[in-house]
Amino acid sequence: MLYKGIIFDLDGVICHTDKYHYKAWKKLADQIGVYFDRTINNRLRGVSRMESLEIILENYDGELTDDEKKTLAEQKNNYYRELLNNMSRADLSDEVYDTLIALRQAGCKLAIGSSSKNAGFILKKIGLGEFFDAVSDGNNISHSKPDPEVFLKAAEYINLAPAECLVVEDAESGIEAAINGGFDSAAIGDAVNCGKAMYTLRSIEDLKEIVII
Ligand code: BG6
Ligand code: MG
Repeated sequence: MLYKGIIFDLDGVICHTDKYHYKAWKKLADQIGVYFDRTINNRLRGVSRMESLEIILENYDGELTDDEKKTLAEQKNNYYRELLNNMSRADLSDEVYDTLIALRQAGCKLAIGSSSKNAGFILKKIGLGEFFDAVSDGNNISHSKPDPEVFLKAAEYINLAPAECLVVEDAESGIEAAINGGFDSAAIGDAVNCGKAMYTLRSIEDLKEIVII
């Protein structure tokens, strides 16, 4: 086996919560009269909640205090949580689930490396609450992607060195974080466009061919 551990980003890789992030930010942006579209949204992939807000506010005319920003970020999270509430096992695709099972059966350790503070809630919703060998998320880091902290912690939790792990990401910031931490990386979705990853996945199932020799 080429890798002993696979570290998965969550939003946009394991499940499509990225579309809910977009909807929630869009609702907030409309509310405060700030222009926001899918191109700007792609810059928020992998980035923490507060840093995402700062990117959105680049188009805001005026000054906001730290408290006002905190309130806006909380509002966005409330909109987001409303959308997450409707998630269920049906939001975990067969191809993702089958790939995870195949990798585990091949002997890989499987971890989550996500910037989200909602990761545990989402995993429970889609039926993977107890599935991963380790979860490193927005609650255990102080620097978000492209800083490698979230992946370094994930590797540490599964007792592997970065060189033994592959990171799977849909965000350019996530691919950069992997590279910064000394991990090989596989890009899926939007991250393919940055051209920085070692592997490009058309579907998550491609991982089986890369990892299981
Ligand atoms: C990442 C998403 O997984 O989590 C980002 O790609 C998001 O878009 C970040 O901003 C933080 O998420 P949360 O759930 O803590 O607001
Ligand atoms: Mg992502």
